[in-house]
Amino acid sequence: MTEIRLETIRKAYGDVEVIHGVDLEVRSGEFVVFVGPSGCGKSTLLRIIAGLEDITSGSLKIDGTEVNHVTAADRGLSMVFQSYALYPHMTVYKNMAFGLENSRMPKAEIDARVREAAAMLQITDYLNRRPKALSGGQRQRVAIGRAIVREPRAFLFDEPLSNLDAELRVTMRKELAALHAKIGGTMIYVTHDQIEAMTLADRIVVLQKGRIEQVGKPLELYNRPQNLFVAGFIGSPRMNLIETTVTEGPALVSGAARIALPPGAPVTPGASVTAGFRPEHLDIVEGDGDIAVTVTFAEQLGGETYLYCAAEGLPQITVHRPGQLPVEKGQALSLRLDRKQLHLFDADGQVLANGLANG
Ligand SMILES: Nc1ncnc2c1ncn2[C@@H]1O[C@H](COP(=O)(O)OP(=O)(O)O)[C@@H](O)[C@H]1O
Ligand SMILES: [Mg+2]
Repeated sequence: MTEIRLETIRKAYGDVEVIHGVDLEVRSGEFVVFVGPSGCGKSTLLRIIAGLEDITSGSLKIDGTEVNHVTAADRGLSMVFQSYALYPHMTVYKNMAFGLENSRMPKAEIDARVREAAAMLQITDYLNRRPKALSGGQRQRVAIGRAIVREPRAFLFDEPLSNLDAELRVTMRKELAALHAKIGGTMIYVTHDQIEAMTLADRIVVLQKGRIEQVGKPLELYNRPQNLFVAGFIGSPRMNLIETTVTEGPALVSGAARIALPPGAPVTPGASVTAGFRPEHLDIVEGDGDIAVTVTFAEQLGGETYLYCAAEGLPQITVHRPGQLPVEKGQALSLRLDRKQLHLFDADGQVLANGLANG
């Protein structure tokens, strides 16, 4: 079992710094997902861990030993890329066995490892095929199999499912979760897809512009975002975020919204506060609510309903309710939001509250 520790890691290309001092501990056996928008530094961090990029400053430790100057080959980690990177002229079997043959492992041991990995990944029937005779999903299984047979100290995945179609991504996601449950092992997985992060991770690391915004279990991030970036990034459809001004009461006021807060809410009259509330935490009420809206678009999915609403002076408000609602485009609604699920952020985007008393 392998623990990986990043201590104030910085990375610059020329004089442009792209990783700005990242501290992180990946525990032994943990499935950690790096998530963030394109260009935020996920691949760079993973490649630093793999030993494919050098570190400008800071310390990288594997099981307590600094490995800054240990080559990629000697770190004992396996990396799986988005672009499979299989050898086209070799069979599936050979693709998986090749690295081990180079290390002069006995043939019987190689054969046992390849067959065990192939069985786990359900590619036994394809062992004699060339990669071009496989589907994208099968090719990615071969790439994963090649990583498994090496019995690495940890697995590093860089967007391994991004080239697959949506349905296959869901299937492979479940298989990867099952694989982790079966072989254990420390895994670091990079994705820009927050749903992949939510479903796979023991802990998620949210990155933005070369910095960690928050680290936590999936539902911790969902329920207790520490800043506006995480609030807006985790969750689909995204959290409604509206900029408001605090008035006496206290209340939050902006355009068609007037949200009375319970006494003791951590806000100061006159301050600018962003209110965040998820689509599922809005109720449609008779009479006065917190926000007056007009439905611009209703998605009736049968089991659930999404309403996209316009409100004076506010960005679009999304409502998600279970079941079917007799609501039509153009209808005026009054929305009430659950104070226990209301998130408040200060003018710098830092959290003031994740939930208030329901006053
Ligand atoms: N070899 C390189 N030379 C210069 N800049 C790079 C290089 N590789 C990555 N970058 C920059 O570093 C930042 C992070 O890139 P990357 O880690 O690939 O992001 P992500 O994987 O999150 O999309 C980006 O701004 C990118 O342009
Ligand atoms: Mg990348």
